[in-house]
Amino acid sequence: MTHRKVALVTGASSGIGNAIARSLHRNGVIVYAGARRVSRMNDLDDLGITTLALDVTDPISVENVVDRIVSETGRVDILVNNAGYGLMGALEDVPMDQARDQFDVNLFGAARLIQSVLPMMRQQHSGRIINITSVDGKVAQPLASWYVASKFALEGLSDALRLELEPLGIQTVVIEPGAIQSEWADIAAEHLRTTSGQGPYKPTADRAAAILTVVKQFSSKPRVIARLVDRAALSRRPKTRYHAGSGSQILVARRFLSDKMIDHLWQVIGEAAERFAR
Ligand SMILES: NC(=O)c1ccc[n+]([C@@H]2O[C@H](COP(=O)([O-])OP(=O)(O)OC[C@H]3O[C@@H](n4cnc5c(N)ncnc54)[C@H](OP(=O)(O)O)[C@@H]3O)[C@@H](O)[C@H]2O)c1
Repeated sequence: MTHRKVALVTGASSGIGNAIARSLHRNGVIVYAGARRVSRMNDLDDLGITTLALDVTDPISVENVVDRIVSETGRVDILVNNAGYGLMGALEDVPMDQARDQFDVNLFGAARLIQSVLPMMRQQHSGRIINITSVDGKVAQPLASWYVASKFALEGLSDALRLELEPLGIQTVVIEPGAIQSEWADIAAEHLRTTSGQGPYKPTADRAAAILTVVKQFSSKPRVIARLVDRAALSRRPKTRYHAGSGSQILVARRFLSDKMIDHLWQVIGEAAERFAR
């Protein structure tokens, strides 16, 4: 059995998760990287990272992955709950089964992984649970009600969890990315188009699409989040929360702005984005 730290990173087939897996590996951590599209993780295989088929909505898949890690290494030190996507569209237009799937991936998926690694972490009297939320976990963006709700929920779940796991020697850390280059914005834009691209919400959807287009151009590299995860995972006394990436400064401003000011800010950002996109 090993003395190197062992990590499981979910959603490692793309964007932020891929960068996190690489960076932890570079820092000497034994990394297990999971996602549904295993073939999209060949680059990680080439680095010597173990890649595994993982669907966070499937309890059997989650159990298989954690069992394999424990049987091969005898421990789990770090869980990075990164798998997630952005369901967009007006609440009135989004079918409830899609809303449930959003929560199943972004919230219950993370919880499933947490439940699965906790027996090992409790036995070790140590462990780090790192939940990737979003700026949208604190500041709502238009036509993203279910995504925003899932990330607000993950923020709240993490706060409660931090308190209940701290006496057991297990730390919970939240990472709040701003806009990051990945597949996220394209998947979100596709939801927006198919769900509310026509009908009464079209003008709001067009504006939200313009914001996504602009935001994409100013997005930060995934490695800025990977660096924060390294700190959350490996520093002796991690902070409770970290944020980075384009636009994440709004989290600081949020503390001083009223709800009405934030609403007005979206109006201003929306108008500017539409001008920019023309
Ligand atoms: N990019 C941003 O601007 C941004 C900003 C704030 C927060 N975030 C958050 O950061 C996290 C990573 O997103 P990203 O930007 O890197 O997006 P991405 O490029 O679309 O990557 C998302 C990852 O999640 C995985 N995933 C989705 N559903 C899954 C499931 N059921 N089971 C297992 N894995 C699943 C995908 O893998 P498979 O499809 O292969 O399963 C993929 O590897 C997400 O939680 C996202 O909400 C992103």
